[in-house]
Amino acid sequence: MANIETFSHETRVFPPSAEFAKTAAISGMEAYYALVAEAERDYEGFWARLAREHLQWHTPFTKVLNESNVPFYKWFEDGKLNVSYNCLDVNLQNGNADKVAVIFESDSGDVAKVTYRQLHEKVCRFANGLKSLGIKKGDRVVIYMPMSVEGVVAMQACARIGATHSVVFGGFSAKSLQERIIDAGAVAVVTADQQVRGGKKLPLKAIVDEALALGGCDSIKNVIVYQRSGDEIKFNPGRDLWLHELVANQADSCEPEWVEAEHPLFVLYTSGSTGTPKGVQHSSAGYLLWTMLTMKWAFDIKPTDVYWCTADIGWVTGHSYIAYGPTAVGATQVIFEGVPTYPNAGRFWDMVQRHKVNVFYTAPTAIRSLIKAADADPKAHPSNYDLTSLRLLATVGEPINPEAWMWYYKHIGGERCPIVDTFWQTETGGHMISPLPGATPLVPGSCTLPLPGIQAIIVDEAGHELPNGQGGILVVKRPWPSMIRGIWNNPERFKSAYFPPELGGTLYLAGDGAIRNKDTGYFTITGRIDDVLNVSGHRMGTMEIESALVANPIVAEAAVVGKPDETTGESICAFVVLKRSRPTGDEAKQIAKELRDWVAKEIGPIAKPKEIRFGDNLPKTRSGKIMRRLLRVLAKGEEITQDVSTLENPAILEQLKQAQ
Ligand code: WTA
Repeated sequence: MANIETFSHETRVFPPSAEFAKTAAISGMEAYYALVAEAERDYEGFWARLAREHLQWHTPFTKVLNESNVPFYKWFEDGKLNVSYNCLDVNLQNGNADKVAVIFESDSGDVAKVTYRQLHEKVCRFANGLKSLGIKKGDRVVIYMPMSVEGVVAMQACARIGATHSVVFGGFSAKSLQERIIDAGAVAVVTADQQVRGGKKLPLKAIVDEALALGGCDSIKNVIVYQRSGDEIKFNPGRDLWLHELVANQADSCEPEWVEAEHPLFVLYTSGSTGTPKGVQHSSAGYLLWTMLTMKWAFDIKPTDVYWCTADIGWVTGHSYIAYGPTAVGATQVIFEGVPTYPNAGRFWDMVQRHKVNVFYTAPTAIRSLIKAADADPKAHPSNYDLTSLRLLATVGEPINPEAWMWYYKHIGGERCPIVDTFWQTETGGHMISPLPGATPLVPGSCTLPLPGIQAIIVDEAGHELPNGQGGILVVKRPWPSMIRGIWNNPERFKSAYFPPELGGTLYLAGDGAIRNKDTGYFTITGRIDDVLNVSGHRMGTMEIESALVANPIVAEAAVVGKPDETTGESICAFVVLKRSRPTGDEAKQIAKELRDWVAKEIGPIAKPKEIRFGDNLPKTRSGKIMRRLLRVLAKGEEITQDVSTLENPAILEQLKQAQ
C-alpha cells in the first residue's frame, strides 16, 4: 500500500506527449509557472480576474477577499449571482441548448440522453415545484437519491431558488439520515421509491420513513418522491408527494434567485476525527469558480469531450465533478446508476466503449478491484474493449499505489493518456494538488504540484515550513475561493478543526500527512494524521464506528483502527469487549456478524467492520487511555516492538493478537 517507502524509490517519469500538450488548456510548465507567479504577485487580482472571466454575475463584485474575521473568509462578497443560472442558462446562451448534457445509463443498461435545454426545463419545473411548497432561499433540503438525472436536477433546483441542499449518500442508514436532517434543520427530503444497483433494489423511501419515525425531524414538511422502480411504497398523504405530480403543471422557466456570492450552496456531512459528522458548508461563487477552473485545468475538458466521473452525488466528488463543474463548463457527461461489477466486471470498459468516453475519473479502489476481477475473469479484461476514445484518466479519493497507476496507464489508457491524480477533500471544494495534463511530468503515486493559486506547504507540529524531503503536516497557507466556509451550526469546531492555534490559527489543516520530493518538490500524500479512515475512498471516523458499537447493549467497550488492505486501501478492524464473558469459536463468529449488521443499521453498510476481535479488555495506560497505536500493530498482524511499559495490562496484547 501507499507509504513513503514505496514512493521514494519511484523513478519513472512520464512527460506529457507533444500531441496532448499542443491543445491543452495549460500547455507546458512555463504556462503553469506563469499562473503561479501571477497568483503570487497579486493574489486577489489573480482570483478577481478569473472570477470575472468565468462566472456570469448579476451584480458584479467590487471586493475580492475579506480577511477581517479569520478564519471566516469571504470571497467576492458584494457580488450576486445564481449557480444554476451559470450552469444552465449560460449554456442556452452559448449555443449549447441542443448539446447533450447527460447520457444517463441505468443499472440494467437503458440509456437516456438529456440536452441542456431539457435539463434547464427540468430544473425550472422542479424549482417551481419547490417554491409551490413554500420552500425559499435559505431553507435546507435533504436529498437522499440514487444516481439519476433527477438527483442532479434536485440539486440544481435548490440552487436556483437559493435553498441550501444537503445530499446524503444513499448507502447511509435511517439513523444517519435522521441525524443529518436534524442538524441541517431541513424542511423537505427529496428521495426515490427505490434505488436499483447491481440488480438489487434498496428501499430509499422506506428508509426516509424510518428516519422520520425516529423522531426529532419536525422541521420536515414534505417528502418528495421520484418514482424509479414503480414498486408499491407507503405514502403519507399530506406529507408525501410524487415528484412527477409536483412538477406536472409547473412552468418550464423559473427566474433565478440572485444570491450573495457567499450564500451557502450546500452543506455536505463528512467524518472528522471526533464526535458526530461535520456539516461542511460551501459558498456559491467561489465554489463554482473553482469547479469550473479545475474542469478546464486538471481535466482539460473540451467542448467535444464525453466526460465520465464514476462518483456518487452523495460525496463531494459527485457535487463538484458531476452536478456543478461539468454543467458549468457545458460538458457532455455520463451518469451511471449502477456498480462497476454488474452484470460483470467489464461494465466500466463496456460503457467507455459504447459512449466513446474521452475523459474518465474514478477512484483507486475501483481500479484495484477491477485489476483483480480482470485477472480472475478474462471476459472482464479491458483488452476485450475498444478504449481508444480515452484521452485523459484521473483518480481521486486516496493515494494510488504505483502498481495500480501503471495498470491504469497501460491497460486503460493504452500508454497514451495522462493520469491526473487529484488530491482534495470535501472541505476544499475542488482539486488542490494535481498534475496539469498538458504540462506536468507524471510520477506514479504522486499528485505532483499544487494548482495555480493554491499555496500548499508542509509544516512541522509548530507550524514551521519544512524543507523538501522531510515528511510533515499538509496545510494551505492562504484562503482560496472554494474552501469550506464553516461547519453548519458549529463555528467553534470549524476554527479548532481546521485552523488550530498550535499552527498559528491561519493555516488550513488538511488532516493529511505529506512529503515533497527533494528534487522536484512533488507531493506524495502519506495518509490521514487523525482518526479518520479511508475505506474504498469513503471517509469514516473511527469514533463514529466506536460510538455505534458501544450503543449496542451487549458491548462494554470498543476501539476501532484502520488496517492496510490491498483492495480497499484501508479496512476497519474493531476490538470489542462485551459486557458478558469473551466469546470464542462459532459463538464469536455469530456475535461478530450481529455487531456488523448493527453497525450497518446505525451508520450504513460502508461502516461495517471487516474484522472484529473480542478481548477481556483493551490495552490501556495507567490513566485509562486506550493505546490505539498498539491496536493498529495488532490489526496488521505484526509483532509489537514499541515500549509497552506504560500499559496497565500488557497481557491483554497476547489475547488480542489472534484474529477470530
Ligand atoms: C484522501 C474526496 C491521496 C485524503 C475528494 C483526504 C487522497 C481525503 C487523494 C478526503 C489523493 C483524496 N491522494 N489521498 N489523490 N484524494 N485523498 O473528503 O486523505 O471524501 O484528506 O474527499 O481523501 O476525502 P473526502
